Order: sequence, then C-alpha cells, then structure tokens
Amino acid sequence: MTVLRAVACGCGRYLPERVVENAEFAATLDTSDEWIRARTGIERRHFAAEGEKTSDLAIAAARNALDDAGLDGRDIDVIVLATATPDQTFPSTATRVQAAIGMAGYAYDIQAVCAGFIFALAQADALIRTGQARRVMVIGAETFSRILDFTDRGTCVLFGDGAGALILEAREGAGDRADRGVLATDLNSDGRYNALLYVDGGPSTTGAAGVVRMAGQEVFKHAVLKLAATGGAALARAGLTPADVDWLVPHQANLRIMTMTAQKLGVPAEKVVVTVQDHGNTSAASIPLALAVAHQAGRIAEGEVVLMEAIGGGLAWGAAVLRW
Ligand code: ACO
Repeated sequence: MTVLRAVACGCGRYLPERVVENAEFAATLDTSDEWIRARTGIERRHFAAEGEKTSDLAIAAARNALDDAGLDGRDIDVIVLATATPDQTFPSTATRVQAAIGMAGYAYDIQAVCAGFIFALAQADALIRTGQARRVMVIGAETFSRILDFTDRGTCVLFGDGAGALILEAREGAGDRADRGVLATDLNSDGRYNALLYVDGGPSTTGAAGVVRMAGQEVFKHAVLKLAATGGAALARAGLTPADVDWLVPHQANLRIMTMTAQKLGVPAEKVVVTVQDHGNTSAASIPLALAVAHQAGRIAEGEVVLMEAIGGGLAWGAAVLRW
C-alpha cells in the first residue's frame, strides 16, 4: 500500500544586504571580535535596512525557492510561516507573502521562536500526508535586529536577520524508511522554562514589541541535552540511526552547541552544515537558510538523509528527518 510523503522540491533564501561584522559591536560595547568568535562561532550577521520588513525577506526567499523548484506562486496550496518578528501583530506575515507571490489557498504564521521552522515543517508534513494539501511552502523569516537591546552584550551580538523557504510536494512512497520526503518529526515544549529566554514586551503586556532577554548559560545547558534527545527520537521514529545521517542541519545559534550536540548524537563534524559564522542566530530562519546554502552549493544529493534540530524560547524544541 502506498502512502503520501512530503518531498522537498525547492529551497530558497534571502539575506539583507547590510553585513555587520563583530568589530562593529566593539565600538559601542565592552566586547571583542575574539570573544564573540571564541564563545559563539559568529563572525558576522546581516541586519535588515530601515523599512525592510520580515515579509520583504520572506517574499525574496519564497521567490528564490519557487525559481529553484521551477514553480509559480499559483502552484502552492498553503504557506506555513514561522516567525517571532512579524511585520505587525496582525495580519499574519504569511498572508503578505501569499499576496506577493499570487497564490490562492491559505497562509498562516506559527510561533515557536527558534524551533519555529521544525514546527512549521511538521504541520506541512501532516497536511500533505493526510491529503489536505499538494504543495506547501514552509518559510522561516526573522528581523531579530528589531527586538535586540543594543546595550546588552550578552544577547545583541548573537542574532541576525534573514529568511529561508522550503517547498514540499506530495509524492507517493512505500511507507518505509527508504522513501524520499519527511520520514519523522519530534516536537516538544516545556513552558516552565519561559523565563530563560523571552521578549520583555508584547501586545497584551506592555503594548510595545519589547527586547530579547536570555539566561545564556542555562539555555546552553538545556540546548545540548534536549537537541541530542529530540534528534535521536526523530531518527528512531524514522527507523534510522545516527550512522544513517548524511547531513545534520542544526539551528545555527552557537557553534559550541552544534559541535557538542553532534558529538552526543554521534554524527561526525564533516556532516554538520554550519552557517552561523556568516548569519548569526536568525531564529526560525536559520535551518532553511542553512539548508538552502548547502542545497545551492550542490552538497545535498537526492536520497540523502537530512536531520534537522532546533530549540528556542518556550522552551520549544524539535527535530525532523527528511530524505532529500
Ligand atoms: N562580550 C564579552 N563578554 C561577554 C559577552 C560579550 N558579547 N557576553 C557576555 N559576556 C560576559 C558575561 O558578562 C560574563 O562576564 P562576567 O563573568 O564578568 O559576569 C562572561 O562573559 C561569561 O558569561 P556567560 O554567560 O557565562 O558566557 P557563556 O560562555 O555562557 O557565553 C553565550 C554566553 C554565548 C550567550 C552562551 O551562553 C550561549 O550561547 N548560550 C545559548 C544562547 C542561545 O543559543 N540562545 C539562542 C536560543 S534560540 C532562541 O530562541 C533565541
């Protein structure tokens, strides 16, 4: 008996033009390029221009993904867009992308901060597997520079802006681990950890957007343990082991977290896609950006197993296994 699988058929990205090197922060803060590189692996990040919105980044990434897939906006049934930095409180940023690429169907945002892309991917997979949609575009897009406290050296040096998009298409599979497409996902959250990583504002609290607050060391400890656990759980659900992983595409928050998680999982360093040095932490955009960088460089071949994992505010975390 055949089953429906959500198979990757196009991937795109967009980064704002302005590149901000670590040295720029040292001009106004007690920090240095050496400290930021050594503790995070970040060398530079992109910041959106004045007036450049999350939807502008998302639209550019969506068009790039459509070009990559050889598709038109009308070929997409659903957009699921993950962001913690929407253009406005409402309408959804996804509907702005919908209007720009001229698609029918429906579009909506979801919010799981840095894990948002994994949650959006899981929804897209469910829509396709249950026959509710034929083609779904999953987007992660952020302008985190808008919610940073540029006097807090512990957070403002970590984040960047950008967008990535992945198009998934329904194809028939045998229902086993050799199928192409999303093979398994694993989603988690634990609201008892709200205070470790949050934004100190919002429509129903301060009425203003607020800025990021983070207990960095605590988040770090949770990240390594939870990412290794969710990665292992998704692989087991797919009937695979770490030895089957061709590419680990982790959330790009901190090189040390990525290295330690890969070691815990048992995935060798040469199989880890790393873009954090050039992008910083772009939250929900980081995995699709890294995927698009690797895909556009011809690194991911059809049939290869890609493991993605992410954690962010909530805490919310998860993983997905996709055979490309
Ligand atoms: N430059 C120089 N010194 C700094 C900087 C900086 N940019 N930032 C912090 N420090 C200082 C601290 O003030 C502290 O100084 P003190 O000892 O005088 O108090 C010292 O460095 C050590 O601080 P720690 O927080 O213990 O440093 P740590 O090695 O843990 O690195 C970091 C901090 C990089 C934030 C790390 O904890 C981390 O990466 N945590 C995870 C963060 C993360 O991944 N967040 C994203 C999750 S996803 C999301 O949803 C947003």
